[in-house]
Amino acid sequence: MFNFNFLKLFSSGRRRALGLEIGTTTIKIVELVKDKANRISLENYGLLNNYGHLERINDAFQTSSLRLMEEDVSHYIRKLVERARFKTRDVGMTLPVYSTFVTVFEMPPMPDKELKKAVPFQARQVVPSPFSEVVIDWIKIEPSHEEILYRKLNNSLIFLIAVSKDVIARYRRIAQGASLNLVSLELETLSQGRAVLGNDKVPTFILDLGSRVTNFSIFDNGFLRMNKFFDLASGEITQAIANGLRVSVWKAEEIKKRNGLKSEGGEIEIPNLIYPILDAIINEAKKLISLYQERTGRKIEKVILAGSSSRMPGLLEYLSKEMPEVVVSQANAFARINYPDDWLPIIKGIQSSFGPVNGIASKILLE
Ligand SMILES: Nc1ncnc2c1ncn2[C@@H]1O[C@H](COP(=O)(O)OP(=O)(O)OP(=O)(O)O)[C@@H](O)[C@H]1O
Ligand SMILES: [Mg+2]
Repeated sequence: MFNFNFLKLFSSGRRRALGLEIGTTTIKIVELVKDKANRISLENYGLLNNYGHLERINDAFQTSSLRLMEEDVSHYIRKLVERARFKTRDVGMTLPVYSTFVTVFEMPPMPDKELKKAVPFQARQVVPSPFSEVVIDWIKIEPSHEEILYRKLNNSLIFLIAVSKDVIARYRRIAQGASLNLVSLELETLSQGRAVLGNDKVPTFILDLGSRVTNFSIFDNGFLRMNKFFDLASGEITQAIANGLRVSVWKAEEIKKRNGLKSEGGEIEIPNLIYPILDAIINEAKKLISLYQERTGRKIEKVILAGSSSRMPGLLEYLSKEMPEVVVSQANAFARINYPDDWLPIIKGIQSSFGPVNGIASKILLE
């Protein structure tokens, strides 16, 4: 599944690859290796937090408006790569959902050869940017038997992604500036799905709670079917705690991580500062789930909570309580990747947020 080769720059055959994600507040890198039996193992990783964003809203590695501070980012990545002593410079990078355009549309039944000609025509109607400014890629989705029956579906479903050439050029410059060899670029959600879901075909909702952005996605029958982002995330929780308790953002960040929804005592109840933000995010998730279920006749069975913020004490329990009709669990980006036993404590700390980097590095090794 996910034979979605967006920008395969080189044919691979590699046994070692880096996966890199430039989030709004963190830079994450893994080095994965493949053995003769095609088993993939973690060899090394690097993680850089930019705490400056807590005080200065513009001080993020990346912002929704795509103002990448390219040179700084390249510099940080280069340092991280040097310090971790990664053995390869071949890298796959993930693209945040807000820097891409994705859509699913229907095409009348026709042979694949004709579809290849017809889809780009239709794409011109659906992609909001001038065609000369974007690179597009698409695949045919295979819906489940159940969905085909429910919708009396005769048409083909097409998943299409468009990425601006400007964005691609930025990523290339960042990689080049960090002395890395860019092998592959992929939508972060697809990378995440590969690492966290593997070949699972059960309709699943992934809620990736980042620092600035929450990424909602639905996978069904092994295909990404919906991907939306929401400009409310964990950073707002820190802000709400800081404002509510009149403490510094640093202190608020610490409270969020240490006690979160399990905070007790004090005049102001900390969980009550957090609930409104979580409820807004959960309501949005519920809307998307209902919409998908109504449209496809498929029931979302699982919700997977991803992102570092999923480690906030009490969050998993709260989400389970608010969404009783689904099974809620935390993402494990290392479910399909081997690692030395004594790394387990480290893995526990990063398994919910390393899906994108593990997924893109695995893609290069599997290609
Ligand atoms: N143990 C923890 N408990 C609660 N929140 C945490 C914990 N560790 C990190 N966070 C929060 O997770 C956020 C960073 O998450 P993540 O690494 O998934 O984000 P990112 O990828 O940089 O951001 P984005 O997805 O918005 O681009 C920060 O807001 C941080 O406060
Ligand atoms: Mg993220």
